[in-house]
Amino acid sequence: MHRILVALDVPTAADADRHATTLAGAVGGLKIGGTLFTAEGPSLVRRFVEQGHRVFLDLKFHDIPHQVSGSVRSAAALGAWMLTIHTSGGADMMKAAADSARNAAAKLGTTAPLVIGVTVLTSLDEAAIAQVGVARPLGEQVERLAVLARESGIDGVVSSPQEAARLRALCGPDFLLVTPGIRPTPPPGAARPDDQARTLTASEAIAAGASYLVVGRPILGARDPRAAALALAAEVG
Ligand code: C5P
Repeated sequence: MHRILVALDVPTAADADRHATTLAGAVGGLKIGGTLFTAEGPSLVRRFVEQGHRVFLDLKFHDIPHQVSGSVRSAAALGAWMLTIHTSGGADMMKAAADSARNAAAKLGTTAPLVIGVTVLTSLDEAAIAQVGVARPLGEQVERLAVLARESGIDGVVSSPQEAARLRALCGPDFLLVTPGIRPTPPPGAARPDDQARTLTASEAIAAGASYLVVGRPILGARDPRAAALALAAEVG
């Protein structure tokens, strides 16, 4: 069950607390993104950490190395278990993040947070990356950034399920691949339930090389979220 991370894409601490209580022990971590963090702040992170949850702080830091280093230090002090940065911030920024995670943990006497890079946002297509000056095919850009992330010493990248097999082959067995876009196998002929277009099932994503699966609506929107989380955990082993 430690491979299933639930995306707490809810607007208030009350909603987040309710889900955290329901899912305690049934998921491997709680992902807090910009919506919830900006509304409820670090106290929510501290509370979850005190309750024994692993917190994945998904704030996608992207700034000069000094500032990212400080952000990672602050996240480590909150007790974040995993956090995200943007790989397009460059090698120096990624090295600063990795160093800061290690140094902060050494000072605090804790384990360093896992630093995970975002490559190309899945909301961008080939035309959109061309607009910001990236001429190569999107898949190649993702691979280039993932390899740069590994060379810069961060722990892994966010990967769509379709990219996982290729990135696993490129980046080796120890690099973490954190994979959203997970959906249960739809019944034959059924329509897609929501806006995730390029999905795999949980067991397919693991077979493709994913290390952790980020799952939101299939858990939070289920009639019995705890049962849904446990079923996914059982599926991936
Ligand atoms: O509800 P759903 O399972 O689609 O939630 C997936 C989570 O992963 C959301 O928090 C979403 O923002 C995040 N995510 C994603 N695709 C990416 C990166 C992050 O769906 N490429």
